[in-house]
Amino acid sequence: MTDKYCVFGNPIGHSKSPIIQMAFARQTGQDIEYRAILAPTDGFADAVDAFIAEGGKGANVTLPFKQEAFQLATRLTLRAEQAGAVNTLVFNDNEVVGDNTDGVGLLRDIMVNLNYPIRGKRILLLGAGGAARGVVGPLLGEHPATLVIANRTVVRARSLAEHFASLGPVSGCGYEDLAGQVFDVVINATSASLSGTMPPLPEGIFAPGSLAYKMMYGLGDTPFRVFARNQGAGMISEGLGMLLEQAAESFYVWRGVRPDVRPVAELLQKKA
Ligand code: ATR
Repeated sequence: MTDKYCVFGNPIGHSKSPIIQMAFARQTGQDIEYRAILAPTDGFADAVDAFIAEGGKGANVTLPFKQEAFQLATRLTLRAEQAGAVNTLVFNDNEVVGDNTDGVGLLRDIMVNLNYPIRGKRILLLGAGGAARGVVGPLLGEHPATLVIANRTVVRARSLAEHFASLGPVSGCGYEDLAGQVFDVVINATSASLSGTMPPLPEGIFAPGSLAYKMMYGLGDTPFRVFARNQGAGMISEGLGMLLEQAAESFYVWRGVRPDVRPVAELLQKKA
């Protein structure tokens, strides 16, 4: 019988998840159906219940429901607990397992696809919201030299850094405090690009050969990308790899089979 999966979000119309997951299913010969479900902003739990009632086996969760999914899960994986958010649900007979594949997706893209090791590197994380929180633990797990979290609202950056202080060398600050500092990897986890802007970064923060990484995929030539290019970043990534790798990890959680993301990246680039 065909197993049912879905992604919950609001809005959800532009989600690439159905194309990606169905491509993984074809590639690995898994018999699944995957669709996008628009849940009302005040009706996430009901939407999940209805999907379970029709036999749903698992789901992805995107904005704005990742925290609600965290609350709703009856059991959390360690990485979901650390992230404080859930992007992957597994519906077993007597439990709803909440997992988070965002952090591992980012790391696989940086370390495997882009072949850029994190160990010993100076990392700058821009933003201190949910997207940033999801990757702090996994980044520290790779033993960078330092992880600096910079945010417009400085107190959010500081409290995020304090929350993870036991896991490694992490500190929080404001954007103006970055003047004079240099980083090997700069990860943009802000939602500033949604409004066509970028955080007010000082010049000179990109080390030669550094990697600029934007976590929010699909917005073309953003101010962050232009800034990184002009400031001499060696490599610029728009986050397509992370999108695919977090999806591949969810697929692996559900099906026990790890798909190859490369042909699916080509498929999406052709469609774009
Ligand atoms: P998400 O879950 O996507 O991270 P969020 O919790 O609303 O969403 O966080 C959005 C992040 O983008 C925050 O770090 C926010 O900075 P503040 O904490 O100061 O609000 C950041 N952000 C959004 N718009 C921004 C802008 N125009 N300039 C700089 N930072 C911005």
